[in-house]
Amino acid sequence: MINHDSISYHSAATEVVNELTRYLQESQAGTTPVVQLRSMAELSKEMNIEGLIRHGGLDLDNLGEFLRKYLDNSMHMHHPNYIGHQVGVPHPAAALADIIHGLICNPMSIYEMGPSAATIEQEMVRWMLEKVGWQESGAGLFTHGGSLANVHAMLAARAVSDPEAWVKGVKKELVVLAPENTHYSIARAVSITGLGSGAIVPIPTNKYEVVESEKLEALIQDQKNLGKEIMAVVANACATATGLYDPVDEIADICLDNKCWFHVDSPHGATAILSGKYAHLLKGIQKADSMIWDAHKMMQTSSLSTGLLFKNKKHYHGTFAQKASYLIHEKENPGYDVLPYQIECTKTAIATKLFFVLAAIGEKGMADFIEKLYNNSRDFAKIIHNRPGFSCDIPVESNIICFRYKPETYNQLKLREKLIKTGEFYITSTEVKGIRYLRLVVMNEGTTSKNIEALLDKIEEIASE
Ligand SMILES: Cc1ncc(COP(=O)(O)O)c(C=O)c1O
Repeated sequence: MINHDSISYHSAATEVVNELTRYLQESQAGTTPVVQLRSMAELSKEMNIEGLIRHGGLDLDNLGEFLRKYLDNSMHMHHPNYIGHQVGVPHPAAALADIIHGLICNPMSIYEMGPSAATIEQEMVRWMLEKVGWQESGAGLFTHGGSLANVHAMLAARAVSDPEAWVKGVKKELVVLAPENTHYSIARAVSITGLGSGAIVPIPTNKYEVVESEKLEALIQDQKNLGKEIMAVVANACATATGLYDPVDEIADICLDNKCWFHVDSPHGATAILSGKYAHLLKGIQKADSMIWDAHKMMQTSSLSTGLLFKNKKHYHGTFAQKASYLIHEKENPGYDVLPYQIECTKTAIATKLFFVLAAIGEKGMADFIEKLYNNSRDFAKIIHNRPGFSCDIPVESNIICFRYKPETYNQLKLREKLIKTGEFYITSTEVKGIRYLRLVVMNEGTTSKNIEALLDKIEEIASE
């Protein structure tokens, strides 16, 4: 039996690390399927889930076997043919932070429950603020994911537009202007703030679903004429489907002129700010009021780890107005409690994962990483577009590529379904302006043009069957 003593822990953890090492080697070498999609009933039976829950019995003799089944039936993110979702491929250094937290469990929302983790979170926030240009004026924190960070940002914007709403509910006619293709978490966030998702007014986008900033000014005036108050304007940096960036700089100026809160929804694309070559995609972001930045997308940590940043400290401090006497009280505190300023109560050491990656590769290493993925994606798009039958009509700005294969003949969703069933590749699919595309998100440094050529071969083969 795996029990509480340290020798048992060491043996079991060694077994886990051995299995994970095998998993990493096979994944990186591409000698295993990317993913095998079997039914839940099958997997539950194979891993003896019911038996283990009822009777226990996971021990050093069968742990390895259990792990092999578990890992073999997992998504292999480190596989070069994993080109699917905007989910970061964890750097082994980040994985160490998960091992550490898994044992010591320091929920660091209040400093005394995790001084090291709380210190690192503040330092990581400081680092992010500096990159955005808000080091003097700003403040922020880490949340469990970008969706939650968006809720938080909308609540902060609401506290500015309608300070009474916290106690009395929303009484004003508030609206949020967000791109037609805004991520669904924004709609949820707006609804959660009590405005109702109907309070979202879509900002028109062009044929690539990029905001047409020249139409924003008129939209703001229309809403004001209707007696509405703009609680926030949201931009994508970058958009989920296409990876294209909205013109942040232009939108920021319009928001400044109209005194509107500007939120940049940039969980994926914010990391480009580290790159001398691609930072221009976020030009003007320092003029926004809030932004979100996922480490678990482009900064190689496991899920979840999101930085939520405010330009103005006052907005960070002013979002919530609550008391929890067992947690929030006067005390001699050598550190800093983030709890009064966040949605979560208990929170894991999420910033530590990012710290471990940076501590291993440095910010230059991170900049090189994102440049490599963005550069590779441009090359891959050319390869795809040049192959007869394939078209890649949407420009590539980040590491997301939308393409189609003979759309007049083949249903793109069916192609994807068949492709995934082979276990050889994992890709996704999306709609842009109502047109269905196959979609690649290049998250692995190990994905090369050879993998892309092989992918195209496979799609042709599947189509011809
Ligand atoms: C533009 C945008 N906003 C928000 C989110 C939600 O972030 P998370 O998955 O970290 O909750 C995503 C996720 O893909 C996104 O692309």
